[in-house]
Amino acid sequence: MAKKKVAVLISGRGTNLQSLIDACADKKYPAEIALVLSNCPGAPGLDRAGAAGAPTLVIDHQLYGKGPQARAAFDAALSAALEEARIDLVCLAGFMRILTPGFVEKWSGRLLNIHPSLLPSFKGLHVHERMIEAGVKIAGCTVHFVSAEMDSGPIIGQAAVPVLPGDDADMLAARILEQEHRLYPACVKLIAEGRARLTARGVVEFDNDVAAGAPMLNPNPS
Ligand code: GAR
Repeated sequence: MAKKKVAVLISGRGTNLQSLIDACADKKYPAEIALVLSNCPGAPGLDRAGAAGAPTLVIDHQLYGKGPQARAAFDAALSAALEEARIDLVCLAGFMRILTPGFVEKWSGRLLNIHPSLLPSFKGLHVHERMIEAGVKIAGCTVHFVSAEMDSGPIIGQAAVPVLPGDDADMLAARILEQEHRLYPACVKLIAEGRARLTARGVVEFDNDVAAGAPMLNPNPS
């Protein structure tokens, strides 16, 4: 079967991009990175893409100004670039822009995000600080199909990690990030193989043979 063409959208350092690049380096992986797109010209993740020989594109949101019209024009430019590259699957990986409902609708079922919490808890920013403040004992990360509201949409997979006594936000972020790097490639694989999909009812359906562990990682506390 032809490999699915994946676009990874980034705004920053791109460690999740790297995990997808590494997964795609395996001949048997069902996807290839056909485009890395950033809204920030200086995003360090662009260098990772360059090193891997993946095509890159910057669409600087600042050049579009502010307000709803600017947002729509920026998203239209994104869509046009994705269509031109014949992208099958769009993976948001630290892409810190809210997308318009029109864009989300257009790419529905083909638009994934990763977020460093067990959604629907702790959407938004400063997630790790907020989890520590709240005293949660189990944290984690989520890969989900994107719907119009920020950090929302049908869940494809989650990984859980413990919050340990003495953790600060950076320690917790590092523990979660390690699992993000396992979970995102595992979920993209399932979608690219067609073994998991978004149904018309807006729920994620898995083939019967998808092992329970594939989209649900639960590492032992260490
Ligand atoms: C990751 O932790 C990702 O889960 C988070 O941004 C970070 C990007 O890191 N995304 C969100 O918070 C989305 N709401 P990376 O650039 O090293 O992949």
